[in-house]
Amino acid sequence: MIDTQNTLTGHQGLRFEEPLIFEQDSPGASGVDVPEIPDHASKLGGLERSEPIGLPGLSEPQVVRHYLRLSQQNYSIDSGFYPLGSCTMKYNPRVNEKVARLPGLGDLHPLQPTQTVPGALELMDLCATWLKTLTGMPAVALSPAAGAHGELTGLMTIRAALEASGNPRKRVLVPDSAHGTNPASAHACGYTVESIPADDRGRVDIQAMRELLDEDVAAIMLTNPNTCGLFENQIIEIAEAVHGVGAYFYCDGANFNAIMGKVRPGDLGIDCMHLNLHKTFSTPHGGGGPGSGPVVLAEALAPFAPLPMVVRDGDGLTLVEQKSEDLGTAGSFGRLKGFHGQMGMFVRALAFILSHGADGLRQASEDAVLNANYILARLQDLFSLSFPGPCMHEALFDDGFLKDTGVSTLDFAKAMIDEGFHPMTMYFPLVVSGAMLMEPTESESKASLDQFIASMRHLGQRALAGDSEFFAGAPYLAPYRRLDETQAARKPVLRWQPQAKEAAE
Ligand SMILES: Cc1ncc(COP(=O)(O)O)c(C=O)c1O
Repeated sequence: MIDTQNTLTGHQGLRFEEPLIFEQDSPGASGVDVPEIPDHASKLGGLERSEPIGLPGLSEPQVVRHYLRLSQQNYSIDSGFYPLGSCTMKYNPRVNEKVARLPGLGDLHPLQPTQTVPGALELMDLCATWLKTLTGMPAVALSPAAGAHGELTGLMTIRAALEASGNPRKRVLVPDSAHGTNPASAHACGYTVESIPADDRGRVDIQAMRELLDEDVAAIMLTNPNTCGLFENQIIEIAEAVHGVGAYFYCDGANFNAIMGKVRPGDLGIDCMHLNLHKTFSTPHGGGGPGSGPVVLAEALAPFAPLPMVVRDGDGLTLVEQKSEDLGTAGSFGRLKGFHGQMGMFVRALAFILSHGADGLRQASEDAVLNANYILARLQDLFSLSFPGPCMHEALFDDGFLKDTGVSTLDFAKAMIDEGFHPMTMYFPLVVSGAMLMEPTESESKASLDQFIASMRHLGQRALAGDSEFFAGAPYLAPYRRLDETQAARKPVLRWQPQAKEAAE
């Protein structure tokens, strides 16, 4: 059994127990030597501050150490393997960052007159052209700010098209394995959501879907490859059935990383699909940074897409911001977001696309699928595979193999932290018990996959040997150990307040 070493400082090895910056307050300390303010007549007319604003006093080295130590507690794809299924924690190539910072791209201001930024329009158009080519779709709305925002955009476009034909309809069908944002987006768009069950192969139960389909259905939202990491191999039949009742086929393209360069969704009968640039085209992910979720559209939906749009007009490019009969945007449902979309993400995505080329993009998909299948093949004798392989970009296991061991998926994930791995996605998708969804992406080497697999097998054997006490206490070596997750979710303490400090003293 591993145990934490109690040290006097709370630090362990070179890992630090880091108090909040407010708790490190040394009143009067400062990083700069500011001269006394000379007597002066105030021009603030009585609005001067009378109380200190309550910032902590710290020297410059204290501040530097504080933030550096915090950053070292942050796990990232740059520090290690990050098999968080469904999230596609893809390596961000440094060349993308370099070009995004080039003066002229990094310095662009969204309020600049468009005549001063023809290069930016050209870049957006080129990015759009690649997205249309890769998906086999004739139009793309670049502005949505994330996958979920793309879903809302797609559904609003569908609604606008249906309204134009006289009936917006009432229902949207969503498989029960879908990402939670799918039903949420449909609901936000005013539709009633109905769930389609999965069949015993982890795919849409096509018979159940047919029973739900009628002329009141506006759209089906299907993820392909789906959240079980499986290709929906009846997708053509699904598209035909959906179109047969005059509904639209929305595809959640968040998992396009598995099929980019291999399959064009347009050829499968899809009418509308968002792309998560952060998942497929390696733009930065998480941390609250800007996301980007462009939506590709079929011919029938293109006239209803949101503005702004970059439109090729004769020899030049125009940023169309208003509805225009001449430029084909009269039917647009309007604007969904300030300005023109996340320019920095378009630059990074285009850098990824151009640096890979068509063959490189295809290979990235193939390698992502190969890596996931390698994990699946090396773990399936010990772990319980939810559906028979091969899989696409992620391998889904459930907690069947942990039955009667006293170890849960959560315990298992906590023990992985001690082994130096960010846990896989847990308990999603909901269609299997205690899901363990592992997504390696294409950039992991065989050596790193082998190390991960060896650790997983080691932990799996330990669980099966009945060492539930060990798992119940994990993690032992992380900066923080088991938190009370219920309390953390229900009563999060998100803000430090002086009273909290006093109460603690
Ligand atoms: C299948 C699927 N759909 C939609 C989304 C939502 O994307 P975003 O987080 O960019 O809003 C995700 C995010 O992980 C996803 O995995």
